[in-house]
Amino acid sequence: MAKGDAYDVKDLKLAPEGKLKIEWAEQQMPVLRNIRERFAIDKPLKGIRLATCLHITSETANLLITLKAGGAQVVANASNPLSTQDSVAASLVKDFNIPTFAIKGEDSKTYYSHLNAVLDFRPNITMDDGADLVHMLHTKRTDQLSEIMGSSEETTTGVIRLKAMEKEGALRLPVVAVNDSDTKHLFDNRYGTGQSTIDGILRATNILLAGKTFVVAGYGWCGRGVAMRAKGMGANTIVVEVDSVRALEAAMDGYRVMTMEEAVKVGDIFVSATGNKHVISLKHIEKMKSGAIIANAGHFDVEIDMSGLEKLKTKKRNIRFSLDEYTLPSKKRIYVLGEGRLVNLAAAEGHPAEVMDMSFANQALAAEFILENKGKLENKVYVLPENIDKEVALLKLLSMGITIDKLSKEQKTYLSSWNEGTA
Ligand code: ADE
Repeated sequence: MAKGDAYDVKDLKLAPEGKLKIEWAEQQMPVLRNIRERFAIDKPLKGIRLATCLHITSETANLLITLKAGGAQVVANASNPLSTQDSVAASLVKDFNIPTFAIKGEDSKTYYSHLNAVLDFRPNITMDDGADLVHMLHTKRTDQLSEIMGSSEETTTGVIRLKAMEKEGALRLPVVAVNDSDTKHLFDNRYGTGQSTIDGILRATNILLAGKTFVVAGYGWCGRGVAMRAKGMGANTIVVEVDSVRALEAAMDGYRVMTMEEAVKVGDIFVSATGNKHVISLKHIEKMKSGAIIANAGHFDVEIDMSGLEKLKTKKRNIRFSLDEYTLPSKKRIYVLGEGRLVNLAAAEGHPAEVMDMSFANQALAAEFILENKGKLENKVYVLPENIDKEVALLKLLSMGITIDKLSKEQKTYLSSWNEGTA
C-alpha cells in the first residue's frame, strides 16, 4: 500500500498503466476536453478547494484533471469500496499531483477514513456519487457546513437521498442534481448502465446470454438500458416493476412483466436496478432455480439481501473473480456477482467514456454554476439550466460529426402563437 500524508493508494508503481488508461478515456471524451480547454484559459475555479467522492476510474480522472485545469485544488476518494481502478488512483497521485484516497477492496473502516481524509482538506465545493460526503457533512462534520458553497450529485440514489433531506428541512447546503440533466440520465443511466452491467455479468461468468431467461427489477432509465441490451443479446427478458406506468411501458416495449414471486421460478439471471432495499429477498432467493445468477446494478449494496444470504448459506466458495457460489440448506447453488455491489464497476470498468463524457461535462459545469451563483442559492436541490443541457448535447453531436436543423423564424413564431388552428 502506498500511503502518504496526501494520498492512500494501492501501489504507486501502477501509475504508468493508469496513465495510459486515462489517456485512452480522454480520447473518447471530446465534450469534457472542450470544457478543459476553456477552463485552462479562464480558470473559473481559481482558489476553490474541491473534494470529490466519485468512482475512481479513468473517466473520473479526466474530470478531476479538468477541474484542476480550471484552477481548483482537487482531492478525491472512492464512492464505493469495490469500484476503484488502482492504476488510475496511482497515476492521479504520481502524474497529476491530485491527492487520492482509494484502494479497490478497501474495508468499511478504510472507506470512511478516506471520506474523512478528503474533508480534512476543508473543501468549498463537494461532488458526490451517492451523497456520502453530504451525509458526513450533515452528521459528523457539521462544523464545516458554513465553508461549503454547494455540492453536486451524480446518481439517482444520491438525488433521492438529498430530496428526502430537502423535504424534511434537513438539507443545509445547495445541491445540483447532475443526474437530473437530460444529457446525464438519458445516456449514462440508459446506455451506460445497459452496456456496462452486461459487461460485468459477462466478465464475471462468461456465460451465453442468448436463450437465457433474464430478469430485470426496476424499469427506470438504468433498468430500461439493462433490459434493452439483454434482449438485444437474445435473452428472454422479464421486467419486474412496482410502478404501474413503468410496468405498462415495459409490457408495450415487448417484455414479459410479472411479480418477483413469479419471476424467481423461471429466471436464470437476475439484475436489480431499483435503488431500493431487498428487492431480491431471502424468500425470493430460496425459490430460485439452482444455478441462478444474481447481480446488483443499483448504487448501494442493499438491493439483494446479502446479509440474510450470508447467514443462510451452508457453504460459500469463490469460483472466479467477482463470482461467489452460495450453497443453501436445500442444496441449491446460487451465484452472486461482485459481492452484491454494483456489478458494472465491481466486475467490469463502469460506463464507457463516451457517456461519462456528458455526465462529467455536467459535473464540471455544475462546479462553475455553484461558483457563479455563490450566495444566491438556497438549501435546495437544483437542476442545471436547460441551456447547459442543450450545449452539452450540441457539443456531443458536433464531436460525432452530426449537424441538426434549426427552426426557421416562421416556425419559432408558430410555436409561440396560439391562433393558427385547423385550416
Ligand atoms: N459510474 C458508472 N460508470 C462510471 C465510470 N466509468 N466512471 C465513474 N463513475 C461511473
